[in-house]
Amino acid sequence: MKTLLKNIGCLQTPVGSCSHTGAAQGENVKYMNAAVVMEDGIISDILDGGRRPSGSFDAEYDAEGYLVTPGLVDGHTHLVFGGYRQHEVAMKLKGADYLDILRAGGGILDTVRKTREASKEELYIKSTAFLDEMLGMGVTAVEAKSGYGLDTKNEIKMLEVIKELNERHPLDVAATFMGPHAVPPEYEGRDDEYLGMVIEEMLPAVKEKGLAEFCDIFCEDSVFNAEQSRKYLTRAKEMGFSLKIHADEIEAIGGAELAGELGAISAEHLIAITESGQEALAAGGVTAMCLPATSFYLGKTFAPAGEMIEKGIPVAIASDFNPGSCPSLNLQFCINLGCLKYRMTPEEVLTAVTINPACGIGRGDVLGTVEPGKQADLVIWDAPDFEMVCYRFGSNMLKRVIKSGEMVAGYGKLR
Ligand code: NIG
Ligand code: FE
Repeated sequence: MKTLLKNIGCLQTPVGSCSHTGAAQGENVKYMNAAVVMEDGIISDILDGGRRPSGSFDAEYDAEGYLVTPGLVDGHTHLVFGGYRQHEVAMKLKGADYLDILRAGGGILDTVRKTREASKEELYIKSTAFLDEMLGMGVTAVEAKSGYGLDTKNEIKMLEVIKELNERHPLDVAATFMGPHAVPPEYEGRDDEYLGMVIEEMLPAVKEKGLAEFCDIFCEDSVFNAEQSRKYLTRAKEMGFSLKIHADEIEAIGGAELAGELGAISAEHLIAITESGQEALAAGGVTAMCLPATSFYLGKTFAPAGEMIEKGIPVAIASDFNPGSCPSLNLQFCINLGCLKYRMTPEEVLTAVTINPACGIGRGDVLGTVEPGKQADLVIWDAPDFEMVCYRFGSNMLKRVIKSGEMVAGYGKLR
């Protein structure tokens, strides 16, 4: 199957298969009046300056002069969950803080109750609708974490849903096991015992069934401390998992330092990251997965993304979609926040939602740029340039999505 996307006003993309930082984070290539040739779902050629490729095509799509970029990669989500937590809005208005709600047995634990009650089928149907919505906003690959089961049976149930989503939905879905997301009620006050069970029972079960590539832990004040995180991540690494860590979201308790020391693929949140945390990420080559919509929703400060880029840390921007700290899957809003709150340039932001998160989920060789040999995941925007996408907020700026060479979502009059 040979397809052509022609009449692209501007094709903007980072290049390469590795994550970018420093000045390179802000380097994008812009092809004007371009066309992209795709064969069996893979990009085979790019032409610019109005040149037309030779030969015939099974399908021709017309970008009608609009902007085209790589498909967006959302590198951090808690996509699969039972119920919602809209009642927390009123609690927040009365002054309850995120960790207060969790300490009182609500928050994540509320979602754990509802996720345990939900059948696999219910979770699958609900998450499919989220993936459809993401695709309709330009996201073509996503990372999804477990962590609302908190017992072996329900963690496996969540990971099986994630596996099925990856197999059946057009989006690519990368799976992360996050058994240590909180201490479940039946282990209240016995966090070390719970973590021991995660290490002894859950990790081998997840490994044996091949249900996750990555392991993550919520390293946070009154959740899991740095020593507990070290123990869990070290074991996960020995077992062959790649490491991720929720670090320095609210308090800096050594999570970023640990990520650097253990060579994690990414450290996530980093709102409260310190100087030594930044040095560790830079030294360890760890991708900083920054989540600006969570800062916005929790009313917190914003991670020092610009400073991290200057220090040589590759910065990615993800949604953190989850029912508590960020009930939004709108990565376009994160693009706006990347410019407005992180003070990143549009080029740095595009890198942060394409190649950098692709590397942060171990897919830099196949995703994240528009180049020959990469998967043909493209977004046609209702915009002449990426600055327009950074500038307009609250609207869906998408025109169409091409996933693995096929037009799969969007609206408007494109043929
Ligand atoms: O990334 N911080 C921990 N986990 C999620 C929130 C989960 C929840 O509140 O349900 C996060 O913000
Ligand atoms: Fe998260």
